[in-house]
Amino acid sequence: MAMPVNRPAVAVLLPPLERDRVAAELALGGFDALPVNSASDLAALLAYRRDVVVTILDADQDPETAGAGWALLHQGGLNIPALLIVNPATLDNLDTSGGGHESDEYLTRPYSAESIRWRVEAMCIRSSAVDDGSGNVLTASLNADDWGRRGRVVAIFNPKGGVGKTMLATNLAASLTAKGESVLLVDADTVTGAVAISLGMDGVPTVVDAWRDEFDGGPVMSFAEMASAHQSGLRVLPLSSSPIHTELLDPERVATGIAAARRTFDFVIVDLHSSYSAINRAVFDKADRILVPVTPDLPAIRTAVRLRDVADELGMRDRIALVINRANTGVSQADMERTIGIPTYATIRSAGPILVRATNEGRTLVDIAPREGVTADFNALADRLLGREVAATKAAFKLFGRASAVRA
Ligand SMILES: Nc1ncnc2c1ncn2[C@@H]1O[C@H](COP(=O)(O)OP(=O)(O)OP(=O)(O)O)[C@@H](O)[C@H]1O
Ligand SMILES: [Mg+2]
Repeated sequence: MAMPVNRPAVAVLLPPLERDRVAAELALGGFDALPVNSASDLAALLAYRRDVVVTILDADQDPETAGAGWALLHQGGLNIPALLIVNPATLDNLDTSGGGHESDEYLTRPYSAESIRWRVEAMCIRSSAVDDGSGNVLTASLNADDWGRRGRVVAIFNPKGGVGKTMLATNLAASLTAKGESVLLVDADTVTGAVAISLGMDGVPTVVDAWRDEFDGGPVMSFAEMASAHQSGLRVLPLSSSPIHTELLDPERVATGIAAARRTFDFVIVDLHSSYSAINRAVFDKADRILVPVTPDLPAIRTAVRLRDVADELGMRDRIALVINRANTGVSQADMERTIGIPTYATIRSAGPILVRATNEGRTLVDIAPREGVTADFNALADRLLGREVAATKAAFKLFGRASAVRA
């Protein structure tokens, strides 16, 4: 099994039970968790591991150890952010006047297993994004893409509007969720995006909200932390609720946030706006696959041909694949493939009334119409992404074999 490279190292100095639980959770999240028992253990660790990115300390139950540990993080040219675990009451009385560092963060008990992972992830992202000139050699080697990567980024894109991007993104995300995958659906279309609305969700917090809050002194949050849960279990995160207040959306930071979410989710599905904006191009770079919904009509086919040439130029040709939408109408699949020169990954049939109903009710096809043909199309697409289509073909052969045996 290939080991992920560049896993960020996190020292964990907590009471034994909690330490083991946290270390196990961090290991699951792809971190190199390094449990230590005491401040002197931490000193020994820091002396030979120069790649510790975050240290977790218990500022509450054992403040002396925490104080000694904290001091070690800022000695000998080191400047390692601390994640301090505290009880809510302690946080109120905490005297940070004498110490503390602006990169330190607090997490109050009780905390969920996931929340500690997300918080450490956010701290890592920030420490690699912000070069404070402190000469911290540790952050230089960080590459968010490689940290114990687990899930895949699937971008949904077509430079033409109205071809079914949002419909594809939401229903694919819902199908994958129904199959037990953990999915983050990012609405990166700040202009015409309507992912939350089409899922019947209201007032969903956005990345702009979180970054504005951070700008005002709030905590650094990962995309996983910012996302809201849909009733299906799918998590949803729009970049912005306004098409004009998007100046905080630094394209590279958006793309890094998306890539980092692969460590928490099996799939990160990204609905993109129909343009070659800086955000889109940054997301293309991180996408493992770019699905291009195309309708079988000439204007859409012409746009797709142009996309093929642009994709060559952007170095993403081998990651793009067609999803023929409304496949049972207009130009045939074979003709489309031949003309466009991009392979077909899946087909989605036209499903007028049921889709209108689903959209009006803010629900998804797997939820509202699990037995419909169009839902089966989405499940087949989800299976293909899960690498299960081979098994399905084999099963079909078996069935065929048995059927012919009966006939014979
Ligand atoms: N297979 C389909 N069957 C029936 N209706 C469909 C199908 N695909 C898309 N539609 C409808 O077409 C319209 C456009 O779809 P959608 O909003 O998903 O496109 P889009 O590419 O995201 O558009 P935009 O560029 O505006 O974001 C919607 O009303 C949607 O319900
Ligand atoms: Mg859309």
